[in-house]
Amino acid sequence: MNWPYPRKLAHRGAGRLAPENTLAAIRLGASFGYTMFEFDVKLSGDGVLLLMHDATLERTTDGAGRVAGFAYGELARLDAGGWHSAAYAGEPIPTLAHVARWLLRNGLMANVEIKPCPGREAETGAAAALEARQLWQGAAAPVLSSFSAAALEAARRVAPELPRALLFGELPDDWLQRCRALGCVALDANHETLTEGVIAAAHRAGLRVIAYTVNEPARADQLLGWGLDALITDAVDRIAP
Ligand code: G3P
Ligand code: MG
Repeated sequence: MNWPYPRKLAHRGAGRLAPENTLAAIRLGASFGYTMFEFDVKLSGDGVLLLMHDATLERTTDGAGRVAGFAYGELARLDAGGWHSAAYAGEPIPTLAHVARWLLRNGLMANVEIKPCPGREAETGAAAALEARQLWQGAAAPVLSSFSAAALEAARRVAPELPRALLFGELPDDWLQRCRALGCVALDANHETLTEGVIAAAHRAGLRVIAYTVNEPARADQLLGWGLDALITDAVDRIAP
């Protein structure tokens, strides 16, 4: 397949150097020369796609409770940067649309990790795919990834042309069948579970391989030497893009 993506992606924007999943983080990652960004996307209570890792607000905002329990208008008033450092205080939770617009205007690419709130897997997968299709039309498509097979299945149903990658923390024996069942173009796995043999097997099956979260330069070199197609890193300051 067409694979226009770089070999190194910035995780949650700029890893830990800025508040994860904010536009400020993506801007910082871009300042280190990164051209593709992984971030986590889920739905607000009223169906707006936004960037947030957790299903609850406490860790990365000054709010409390479930993301799905609030309309985006309420979530937009929260501080998603002050928990990280004073320099980022007041940074808002961005929408997928806002981030897409900024990336596209700057010629940068995305890996949209669909991270549904519990019980909203299919709804989130379908919404993310439909919005991605609309936002990225005419540009290199974002890679849609998820740990949720239901989310990827729903994405496939509404926008089959968008590239999909199935995420794994541990590789099950049937990883290839599971990737194939969802029509994925890539296996996306915790780097600790990847070996040269797994990468070769994926390639023989016509799949690309993405690894997260690779933060040691020596491990990055090893994986890329084994033919890894792309790695996702927090270490945007220590691993050259
Ligand atoms: O998309 C790869 C990686 O981000 C998956 O783990 O928890 O950082 O979203 P997590
Ligand atoms: Mg993620």
